Amino acid sequence: MQDHEDRNIHPETGRFLGRAEKEALLGQHGVVLWLYGLSGSGKSTIANAVERALHVDGRFTAILDGDNLRTGLNSNLGFSDEDRAENVRRVAETAKLLAGLGVIVLVSVITPRRELRVLASRLVGPDFHEVYVRAAFETCAQRDPKGLYAKARDGAIKQFTGKDSGFEEPDNGCLILDTEAASAEECALLLLKHLRPIVAGRSSTAK
Ligand code: ADX
Repeated sequence: MQDHEDRNIHPETGRFLGRAEKEALLGQHGVVLWLYGLSGSGKSTIANAVERALHVDGRFTAILDGDNLRTGLNSNLGFSDEDRAENVRRVAETAKLLAGLGVIVLVSVITPRRELRVLASRLVGPDFHEVYVRAAFETCAQRDPKGLYAKARDGAIKQFTGKDSGFEEPDNGCLILDTEAASAEECALLLLKHLRPIVAGRSSTAK
């Protein structure tokens, strides 16, 4: 017997309006673009630019941003390994729900460890596309748009990613947007080029 049945949980499978109907309404296919990388690497800037370009194209999108979610859904979570895993689990489940409604979901969350990216990929399933937004720790520390690197240097922030909490580079050949080598606008264009066939090609009523 399945785990949820052991717990007397009986999810609806065929009765509710399905994904195909919602995707037909929107004229697009739901997808999850999981942007990860260090704080200050450019994830949210790229997600914002991509979302605005897609909006002009008539696409329906959502951004799941780590900082934003940590003010609501994830406000009870900190930055221990366990809390980051729970953070990623919740974001992945939310992204999956939205993609299942036909939404193009842009996730912007540090996701520092490979096992967290594997977890997100496993939870989301075939709609998951991993995108590493790369910039070196030193570069992010120089940019320091939120002043967090200075605070971490002064010891005012503990478990800071890349300093006293680990960050693992990808080793799986995912799409890499290098924000040291290209501007955020150029990276956004690269991502749009990657995304457009995925969104249009898999929808029966694609625009
Ligand atoms: S994750 O590691 O769990 O994936 P998430 O993307 O949700 O991180 O949150 C990271 C954001 O929280 C950063 O952009 C930064 O603004 C803020 N932050 C606060 N404390 C930390 C910390 N110790 N390490 C990293 N980011 C932190």
